[in-house]
Amino acid sequence: MWKPTEKIRYQPRPGKWPNKIEAEGSTWFTPIKIGQVQLKARTWVPAMVPWRSTEEGIVTDQVLAWYERFAKGQPGCIVIEATGIQEVPSGPLLRIGHDRFIPGLKELSDTVHLASGGQTKLFIQLIDFLSIRRRPEPEKYFQRFLNITDAHRAVIGAEGWTEQEIRDHLNTLDSNELGNFLTQRELDDLRMGARERVTDVQFDHIKQLPNVLPELFSDAAERAQKAGIDGIELHYAHAYTMASFLSRKNNREDGYGGSLDNRARLPLEVFAAVRKRVGDEYPVGCRFLSDECIPGGSDVDDAAYFGVELAKAGMDFLSLSRGGKFDDAKQPGVGEAAYPYTGQSGYECMPSYISDNFGPFGRNVEPTALIRKAIRDAGFDTPIVLAGGIHSFEKAEAILNSGEADIVASARQALADPDWFLKVKLGRGEEVRLCTYSNYCEGLDQKHKVVTCKLWDRIEMDEPDVQKSADGKRRLIAPNWTA
Ligand SMILES: Cc1cc2nc3c(=O)[nH]c(=O)nc-3n(C[C@H](O)[C@H](O)[C@H](O)COP(=O)(O)O)c2cc1C
Ligand code: SF4
Repeated sequence: MWKPTEKIRYQPRPGKWPNKIEAEGSTWFTPIKIGQVQLKARTWVPAMVPWRSTEEGIVTDQVLAWYERFAKGQPGCIVIEATGIQEVPSGPLLRIGHDRFIPGLKELSDTVHLASGGQTKLFIQLIDFLSIRRRPEPEKYFQRFLNITDAHRAVIGAEGWTEQEIRDHLNTLDSNELGNFLTQRELDDLRMGARERVTDVQFDHIKQLPNVLPELFSDAAERAQKAGIDGIELHYAHAYTMASFLSRKNNREDGYGGSLDNRARLPLEVFAAVRKRVGDEYPVGCRFLSDECIPGGSDVDDAAYFGVELAKAGMDFLSLSRGGKFDDAKQPGVGEAAYPYTGQSGYECMPSYISDNFGPFGRNVEPTALIRKAIRDAGFDTPIVLAGGIHSFEKAEAILNSGEADIVASARQALADPDWFLKVKLGRGEEVRLCTYSNYCEGLDQKHKVVTCKLWDRIEMDEPDVQKSADGKRRLIAPNWTA
């Protein structure tokens, strides 16, 4: 992962823990309405992919155990990991692109409601993503993937050469020389692996995205509703299709790119279709970026505009993340796929303990507060969810009481200690196992390996019925804690 040049090491800063009475009287543990649904607290576990479904995307016992473990800590809301709305192979990532996924998701919603004693609402993050190939061997790229054009012939001076001769020639060149003969896109495909963009309107399936996505998202949302899931989070963040429509880099010329209102058009159309399908009573919101954190990308002003438009359209909540783009991802090894959390924008999304002068905690607070203010100034009271390095009651409480956000989420801290919300609420903050922001979990995510936390995945391995990774070396859920 990318690291800031300063490389300052940070320890977690939990501050002072509240006693039981202080916690119970706090804002963080106060209910809040998301549309027609009430959360019992403003505590939230945002989406985290644990790579535990079947290869077809069906809920497994490991998926149930993962969410059950978070539910025991009784957060106000848990958002199920990014769940694919299309039937495309994507490894052990949950999917919801067909009715056959409903029974597994129903079991999941029942499990969470039961394990939390009815304290936790369960939302699901719905994702669409475009295809990405692994980085190819150069020889394979030149022999099989590169489309030889007249432009190549002209620039190489290869009039009269056979296509094979051109391929063989290109394969002998070093990367500097290739820069003279290949387009930037071809160089990117060779260097990083081919990746579709929403601007590839020369491909019919990309051109047609605005025609097909509203229905695909609505079908998925209806399935979630049937499965007893309490609400929808449309994934408009990070490196995926909907975020790419919002991006300042989207220059489509069909009314879905370029200006701010054109870039917001498809996200608003998807929301309108979903709303129509699931009705006004069912919570629907989205996660989007306070800043793409890439050169030429959308910034906080763009995000404030989108926030107001999404609130005006009637979204029930808005959750803010940042960064996490392919544009500045590190070059993957040959045979591996690029991962959108390896560059500077990835760092902004999941900052690690090795940081800059600002540090890894609360980097998303200021932009989120600006976006919330723009939404409030426009007359909307849509709840705003904030995440990023939060592991302290004091910090969460300060954010809420100063009006920087309405709900404070923590992903990695909840993974490090799924009981931490409950411990804090019970006045037992001293027992919280603090996340060190090592990003060991994120490294597992990158390799599409079952995600665990390094603070607990090798302890108490002889507990009865403990689920283990395929190699038997890691336990898959945190040890039990009894209040
Ligand atoms: C293992 C892992 C998987 C993640 N998967 C998702 C995801 O599916 N969707 C999403 O929006 N964010 C995902 N995130 C980002 C988190 O939701 C969160 O925004 C980020 O980790 C910063 O919050 P934190 O500092 O509290 O961890 C993931 C993070 C981790 C560590
Ligand atoms: S592995 Fe555990 S301690 Fe390290 S960042 Fe992830 S949750 Fe935190």
